[in-house]
Amino acid sequence: MPSDDPVVREIHARIDIVSFIGQYVDLKKRGRDFVGLCPFHGEKTPSFHVHPAPDNFFKCFGCGVGGDVLAFVRRHENLTFGDAKRMLAAKAGIEIAPERPGAVRARSEREAIFEANRVAREFFARHLREPGGARARDYLERRGFGEAVRERFELGYAPERWDALVHELQGAGVDLAVAARAGLVKAGQSGYYDFYRDRLMVPTAATTGETIAFGGRALGDAEPKYLNTATTPVYTKGRHLFALNLARRAARADRTMIVVEGYLDCIALHQAGFENAVAALGTSFTDEQAAELRKYADYVFLCFDGDAAGSSAATKAVETASHALEHAGSSVRVVVLPAGDDPDSFVRTHGPDGFRDALAAAKPAIEYRIDAQVDGLRRGFDSPAKAAFEAEALIERLTPRPEWDRWRVYVANRLQVNVDDLRNSRFLARSTNFGPRRADPPPRGSRHASASVEPLSFEREVLSILLEDPTLAGEYRTRIDPSRFRNAVYRQVYERVIGASESLRTPADVFALFGDDDDGAALIASLGRADRSSAVRYGDSEARRSHLDRVVERLQLDGTRERYRQVQEAIDARLSAGEPVPGELRREFDELVAKLKR
Ligand code: UTP
Ligand code: MN
Repeated sequence: MPSDDPVVREIHARIDIVSFIGQYVDLKKRGRDFVGLCPFHGEKTPSFHVHPAPDNFFKCFGCGVGGDVLAFVRRHENLTFGDAKRMLAAKAGIEIAPERPGAVRARSEREAIFEANRVAREFFARHLREPGGARARDYLERRGFGEAVRERFELGYAPERWDALVHELQGAGVDLAVAARAGLVKAGQSGYYDFYRDRLMVPTAATTGETIAFGGRALGDAEPKYLNTATTPVYTKGRHLFALNLARRAARADRTMIVVEGYLDCIALHQAGFENAVAALGTSFTDEQAAELRKYADYVFLCFDGDAAGSSAATKAVETASHALEHAGSSVRVVVLPAGDDPDSFVRTHGPDGFRDALAAAKPAIEYRIDAQVDGLRRGFDSPAKAAFEAEALIERLTPRPEWDRWRVYVANRLQVNVDDLRNSRFLARSTNFGPRRADPPPRGSRHASASVEPLSFEREVLSILLEDPTLAGEYRTRIDPSRFRNAVYRQVYERVIGASESLRTPADVFALFGDDDDGAALIASLGRADRSSAVRYGDSEARRSHLDRVVERLQLDGTRERYRQVQEAIDARLSAGEPVPGELRREFDELVAKLKR
C-alpha cells in the first residue's frame, strides 16, 4: 500500500530493498524472493524472506517480524521512525521537507554548533595522545580505563592553556561566537578563552551521532569535579542521556538498559561488557529522559551509587527516576550496590560476573519503594496508616491487577498490618488508629465459628457497604451472585438483603429484615462493629460504588482464574495421553491468558 508520506514514498522508490538488506544479511535468490538467516532471531535454516519491488517488504517466517525498508532499519538499528526516515532519506538524497526561513536559520545554527563540537572533540582526542596529555592518560590508566573505551567514547584531554582550543577553532574556520554559544569558549575582556582547561574530556553524542555536549573532569581535586556544557541550541540539560547512541544498539535484542549516575560509571560498565548502560548526568532523572529511553528499551535497571542504607538522597533519586520511567511505561528494577560503592568501583572489584549477579538480584522498583517505606516506618518517620496507604497506592499504580494481592501480602507482612486493612486503606485516609488488628471474634451464634475473618473478607466488605447504603443492593444484586459467597451465613444474609432490595432505604431497614433471625442480626451487628473498629469507612456513595466495582472485578478475575485452571488441566490431560489438543481449547486458553494479563 503506498504511504501517505511523500518522503516514505520516495524512500520506497529509490532504495532497493534487496540490496539494502543485502548489506546486513547474506541473501540468496529463491524464485522471485531472496532468503537468508533472520538477523532478528537465532536460526540455522533461512526463513527470512525479502520480496523485491513492487512488493518491497521483508518477512521472517520464523519470528514473524516483517515490514518495509524503514521497519528493517528501525529494528536493526533500534531507531525511532523519525530517525530511521531521516537516515534513509539522507542515504537516498531526499530533501526531507521544504523549511521555513526561520527553521533554516535554526538548522544552520545547529549545524554550525555540531561542527564546532566536532572540531573540539577531535582536538581534545588528539591532545590525549600527545605528550601534554600524559597526566590524563595516567589518570585513565590508574582508574583502569583502557584503549578500547578511550576510542569508543572518543575521550580527550583539554590542555592547561587559555587559548589552545580558541586557536584550533579559528584555524578550522569556526566562528568563535558560535563556539561560545556551544559552550566551548567564553568571551572575556580581551577576546575569547578556552572554557575547559586541564580536564579529561568526555563528549556526549546525540543518537544521530553528532557531538552535542562535553563533560570535563578535573584530574585532581580541582573544583568543580565536573564542568559541563550548559544549555545550548543543541543541548538541554535533563533531556539527553549519555551513551544512548551506543546503548541503543546493544539494547536492540532484549530492549533492556542500565541507567547509572556518572559518566565514568557508564564507561566502566561498557568496558566490562555492559554496552547497554547509559548515564543520566548529574541532574535527577527527568520525564524527558524517561521518554527518550522508552524509545529503545522496555526494561530498565537503575543502578545508582550505593549510599548508606536507605539514605534519603539515594532513595529520592530512585523514587524520581523510577516514577518517571514507570510513567513512561518502562518496567523498572533497582540494583542495590553495597554502601560506598558506585557502579564503577563495584564492577572493578567484582568483575562482570559480580555485576551480572547484582543485576539478577535487582528488586522490582515497587519492592524497593515499599522497602523504603518500611525502613522509614522503622525509623519512625511515618505512621503505619500513612505507610500502608502509600504502599497500597504504589501497588495499585505500579503492578498489574492480578498481582495486587500478592504484593499486599508482601506489604502486610513487612508493615505488620492486616491484608484487609491494606486493601481498604484508600478509604481510611483520615484514620488515626490504624494498626495491627486483633482477629475479630466470629459473629455470635454463628454456626461457622471456626471460619476466620480473613477468607470472608469480600463478603464482609459487600455486606458492610450495603448496610451503610442499602439503596446499592438493587444495583449490585445481579452483578454479585450469592453463589460466590463461600460462607453459608453470609450468603443467607446477602440473599435476604438483595431479595428485599426494593424496600431498603436506611440501615435500620436492613436490621429490621433480621428481626426474626438471631444469626443474621448478630452478623449484621458485628459487621458494623468490626469494621468501625478497623476504621473502615466508605466516605460517600462514589467510594462505596467504586469499592463494590472492585469486588465485582475481583470476582470476575477469580472466575477467569478458575476457568484457566480447568482448561489447563484439560490440555495437560490431553497432552499426557498423547492426544491432540482441540483448537477450541487452545483458543480458549489463549483468550484466558490474554484476560489474565489484562
Ligand atoms: P559523581 O560525583 O558520582 O561522579 O557524580 P562520577 O561520575 O562517579 O565521577 P568519579 O567516579 O568520581 O570520577 C555523578 C555525575 O554527576 C555529575 C556528572 O555528570 C557525574 O558524572 N556531576 C558531578 C557534575 O555534573 N558536576 C559535579 O561537580 C559532580
Ligand atoms: Mn560516582
